[in-house]
Amino acid sequence: MRIFVTGGAGFIGALAVWRLLDLGHDVCVVDNLSVGHQAAVDRAAHLAGKSVEFYPCDVRQTGQMIEIMQSFHPEAVMHFAGLKSVAESVSSPERYYENNVQGSLSLIQAMQQCQVHRLVFSSSATVYGASGTPPFSEQAELGPVNPYGRSKWMVELMMRDVCAAHTDFTGVILRYFNPVGAHPSGQIGEWVQGSPNNLVPYVMGVLQGRFDRVRVFGSDYPTPDGSGVRDYIHVLDLIEGHVAALGLPAGLSVFNLGTGRGYSVHEVIQTMQSVSGRTIPFDVVDRRPGDVAISIADPGCAERLLCWKAQRDLTEMCRDVWNFAKCSPRGYE
Ligand code: UFG
Repeated sequence: MRIFVTGGAGFIGALAVWRLLDLGHDVCVVDNLSVGHQAAVDRAAHLAGKSVEFYPCDVRQTGQMIEIMQSFHPEAVMHFAGLKSVAESVSSPERYYENNVQGSLSLIQAMQQCQVHRLVFSSSATVYGASGTPPFSEQAELGPVNPYGRSKWMVELMMRDVCAAHTDFTGVILRYFNPVGAHPSGQIGEWVQGSPNNLVPYVMGVLQGRFDRVRVFGSDYPTPDGSGVRDYIHVLDLIEGHVAALGLPAGLSVFNLGTGRGYSVHEVIQTMQSVSGRTIPFDVVDRRPGDVAISIADPGCAERLLCWKAQRDLTEMCRDVWNFAKCSPRGYE
């Protein structure tokens, strides 16, 4: 297929580009490079032994999107472009609505103009909020508690309306749990300039000596060791979910992408210690505002209807992160 990938220079997007090229698809990438790295796209193409079209532009530039789509003629769009820091979304909500919501609307408008009828969208488990009881099925009540989550929810609502109005449109919403891991070559992984918000990139930074100690947020959650529990999923398993989504029929589909198994912060630190053979110093500090105790997917719907199931365990996720830390010590420089 001819696949248009937005945000293809980011962590998940670049790995998707690699996998799509590897499977023999033709890929065109657009990315405004505000967070992503062009070198990630170059590495993806090199690893696959293929070439890729790359345009350094922003999905909010509808005119440019139309021009690129008119020359590439995509059959499907994978939309990874967006901002993803919960804390930043609280302090700068406008940026989140502009990038994530306005950006998605612009993309859908360009798709309509160019007769492209298939969209796979990166949503987030954050849309479930804090009220329900995990594991979350796709039918669980939604109620995101921060602007980042609300921006994802708004795009979901927009896609629902677009699919209702245009019966030839295929909209696939994929709700990611906690993607971690890297390409096994150590060439593509999550590289954050400055101090990362997320646990695994931070632990990787401690292993690399860029940060002194991990802060474990919270000791009194109702979990076996008192720290937060998350459903970590290997990014390559997550991408297989996107590949499976390319075959879905018209209409709206919603799937959780998670393993169905949760791990605590301490379990993640222990696993990173055992794969690296190094001690990871940590301090237990207060809870981080906005965090929920437990977030775990019910992946049953994806298993049945998407014929997809995560294959890789936490050890493999951590091993690939550690390998990326060693092979790419300065990220994409
Ligand atoms: N945590 C720490 N120390 C840290 C960072 C995180 O203890 O330095 C804990 C958190 O309290 C939580 C767990 O590690 O219990 C995971 O936290 P992350 O920040 O890695 O991920 P979140 O579960 O908070 O998820 C957030 C967004 C998701 C998004 C994900 C990846 O809510 O939508 O980050 O970007 F997908």
